[in-house]
Amino acid sequence: MKVLVIGGGAREHALCRSLSLDPDVSALYCAPGNAGIAEVAELRPVDALDGAAVAALATELGAGLVVVGPEAPLVAGVADAVRAAGIPVFGPSAEAARLEGSKAFAKDVMAAAGVPTARSYVCTTAEEVDAALDAFGAPYVVKDDGLAAGKGVVVTEDRAAARAHALACERVVIEEYLDGPEVSLFAITDGVTVLPLQPAQDFKRALDGDQGPNTGGMGAYSPLPWADPKLVDEVMELVLQPTVDELRHRGTPFSGLLYAGLAITSRGTRVIEFNARFGDPETQVVLARLRTPIASVFLNAANGTLAAEPPLNWSDEAAVTVVIASHNYPDTPRTGDPIEGLDEVAAQDAPDAYVLHAGTRREGDAVVSAGGRVLSVTATGSDLAQARAKAYKAAGRIKLDGSQYRTDIAAKAAEGR
Ligand code: AMP
Ligand code: GLY
Repeated sequence: MKVLVIGGGAREHALCRSLSLDPDVSALYCAPGNAGIAEVAELRPVDALDGAAVAALATELGAGLVVVGPEAPLVAGVADAVRAAGIPVFGPSAEAARLEGSKAFAKDVMAAAGVPTARSYVCTTAEEVDAALDAFGAPYVVKDDGLAAGKGVVVTEDRAAARAHALACERVVIEEYLDGPEVSLFAITDGVTVLPLQPAQDFKRALDGDQGPNTGGMGAYSPLPWADPKLVDEVMELVLQPTVDELRHRGTPFSGLLYAGLAITSRGTRVIEFNARFGDPETQVVLARLRTPIASVFLNAANGTLAAEPPLNWSDEAAVTVVIASHNYPDTPRTGDPIEGLDEVAAQDAPDAYVLHAGTRREGDAVVSAGGRVLSVTATGSDLAQARAKAYKAAGRIKLDGSQYRTDIAAKAAEGR
């Protein structure tokens, strides 16, 4: 089967890497891709937000499956356009992707499905904002209703800052603060059957010790040795299946990847957010541990035949990924800096450690930075400590002027904390 992947981040590099190793995949294309993805897939230029252009490209390539990576094309209806062209697509419709595209919609679905989440108010006026902030008290959690590329959520003790963020948004969700560790759990679904993947943990803050501003994600690891072994079953029963059932009953079935961001609180597991696509950087570690070839699973999800899929097969190894970000990320990242050391990692650390590209592009013979998150250095090992050591050894070989990475990804979990 010929597969076209839409997107160009480290998540898409991880997806393309897995698909390139899948014997069912006869040709692999990625649009627009990046310098690293070019090593495993043929790149095509496309405006990923333009459904007609993506559908035309898929038709031209004779693709038997299109996999849409990022949320913006999904919310813009790119999967609908590809589906309308008669090509199977892994990714939800625009209607179903509202689960990520609107926090208020997600809250409504959860309420209807009885899914545990933070209590919340949807506010559009200053009076409503003040009432909601006072109802919950500090720490305040204020979320822009729409897609905001990871910048829409403010969690703060400072009432004035919470209020200012709320008033800067057209519509906000103000909600109860959830304590406890966070878990990302992904599930593949065709709208009826739900196939959970293995849980991972993401590090959202820019600096060590969970300090600094929120980012798209600075690292991840899987498995979670500290988590209750029943977690996946519990989330399947309380969150994933009811959500998929609710969207189907509404006439807008969700097919593709359903991502539950969870808080494990003292009062039980609660949903922090849903995403309608694979998480980045969690995908890098989850796919590093997945042994089942993925193309037929995606195709079965796209075709509504996921029930035929046997259980997924997982490696016992642990995986860690460390994100290397450019100078000044997440504010206004500097781009265009040359990246060195990629060949050394390939020569000395492969296959246990490898570099997935996020924001990179080729300039002549050089690979240069082209975004905030630049690389995602991923490694597997017999346990988290070993995977961590390998990932950091490889990350240490990369030279990118002004770049930064966290040094404590998976550190606590590797020490059994
Ligand atoms: P979201 O975009 O909804 O995932 O929010 C980004 C981050 O803000 C989450 O990963 C959490 O760390 C934090 N966050 C969101 N909602 C809450 C909440 N209700 N309580 C505590 N932290 C939250
Ligand atoms: N890792 C968080 C996200 O993909 O939204």
